[in-house]
Amino acid sequence: MKLRVSATLLLDKVQQGGSLNALFESAQNEVDESDRAFFRELVYGSLRLWPMYKGITRQLLEKPLKPKDSALEALLVLALYELDECSTPPYASVSAAVEVCASLKRAWAAKLVNACLRRYQREKEALHQHLGDSEQAALPGWLYKVLTKYYPNHLESLAEASRHKPPLTLRVNSRKSSRDDYLKQLATTGLDAIPAGSFGLTLHSAVPVSNIPLFYDGVVSVQDESAQLAGRLIAGAFGDVPVGLRVLDVCSAPGSKACHLAELGAAVTALDISPSRLARVEDNAKRLGLSIKTLVGDGRELDELAIETDFDLVLLDVPCSATGVMRRNPDVKVIRLKSDISQFAELQQALLKSAWQKVRPGGKLLYVTCSLLPAENEDIVSQFLTATADAKTTPLSESFGIEKPVGRQALPSIKSGDGLYYCMLEKVA
Ligand SMILES: C[S@@+](CC[C@H](N)C(=O)[O-])C[C@H]1O[C@@H](n2cnc3c(N)ncnc32)[C@H](O)[C@@H]1O
Repeated sequence: MKLRVSATLLLDKVQQGGSLNALFESAQNEVDESDRAFFRELVYGSLRLWPMYKGITRQLLEKPLKPKDSALEALLVLALYELDECSTPPYASVSAAVEVCASLKRAWAAKLVNACLRRYQREKEALHQHLGDSEQAALPGWLYKVLTKYYPNHLESLAEASRHKPPLTLRVNSRKSSRDDYLKQLATTGLDAIPAGSFGLTLHSAVPVSNIPLFYDGVVSVQDESAQLAGRLIAGAFGDVPVGLRVLDVCSAPGSKACHLAELGAAVTALDISPSRLARVEDNAKRLGLSIKTLVGDGRELDELAIETDFDLVLLDVPCSATGVMRRNPDVKVIRLKSDISQFAELQQALLKSAWQKVRPGGKLLYVTCSLLPAENEDIVSQFLTATADAKTTPLSESFGIEKPVGRQALPSIKSGDGLYYCMLEKVA
């Protein structure tokens, strides 16, 4: 299938509530291999800017499209993105978009699409000036309001980070190489990188995994700089990770943090509710030469699983709104609703209560989300502390991002890590 047709159909499925992660691979497989990088760029880029271009299409269309023609709106967003952000000559972007109409069995719309895109070229500045605040920020209205309330001083940088591609950061497997040695090796291949955090390095420009030296030999993994904090904070809490530190990772897949801890010497049991996702933990551990015990199960019902109760550390990296990682999961801007947050919060509370039972007296639990929303972060931990006599917070060993009433929030920024929340709890002995 032609790449813009396939990209339009995928964007349309996402705007109807589909998950980008679940749909992307099969859509990409319909496209010629040589077009796949551009396909990805169009899909991810359009979604990162979706609320902004929806505001533009609202102005360009004299009357809203019928729900059955929603694919045309996806096509317009994609074409606007291509006009603004890609190196395609403008006339070619417009004519490619017009051609897609026939493939969507909406040849009647060719004139409309052509007229909208030509008007955009003529009146771009005025159209952007008439956008609302949340549209200009390219954030959904409900999220813009929440972020304005909780991050008035960081709103612009949060929005900016969400509109850009994330940097590519690697974690060096300390069992196989030092970061300095790997950096030297990279330099010989012509790839420039700078150190990031204690274990990581960020490449100056992103490359496919297959072009990352020694990736398949297990020397490095792709892991965001803020996500690497999990290993650093756990090492800090135990005065370095003692060999054999007993760790239970309750929501472990795809295993970035579990593998990092195993690289540092911990004895990791990795649980996940999804067998297919847990298989990725096993694949990653194998590539890195690590031994991790894996277990499929529901973290809310740990009592019913045959696992020990006396872990030194429980890592609880809960499912969440992903508002701290929108640049990687840009469908969040399209499908996430304000009402989803209370459902996540309920799940997070249940996971925390259950996971706590597996911490030994004197042991610790690291609560993690990739959310920017207090309702999934400090509010969850504060409610838990109120209800749990043997739980107290303990300071984090590093001061990143901003301090919260409990825990700390790493803020996403264009050149560095994602927006993750961390809070360390200790079980009173
Ligand atoms: C944020 S991801 C974890 C990322 C992982 N810690 C890492 O660093 O690679 C959340 C994970 O929680 C899993 N999950 C969701 N509900 C769960 C439950 N009730 N019990 C256990 N795992 C669950 C999901 O399948 C998903 O893999």
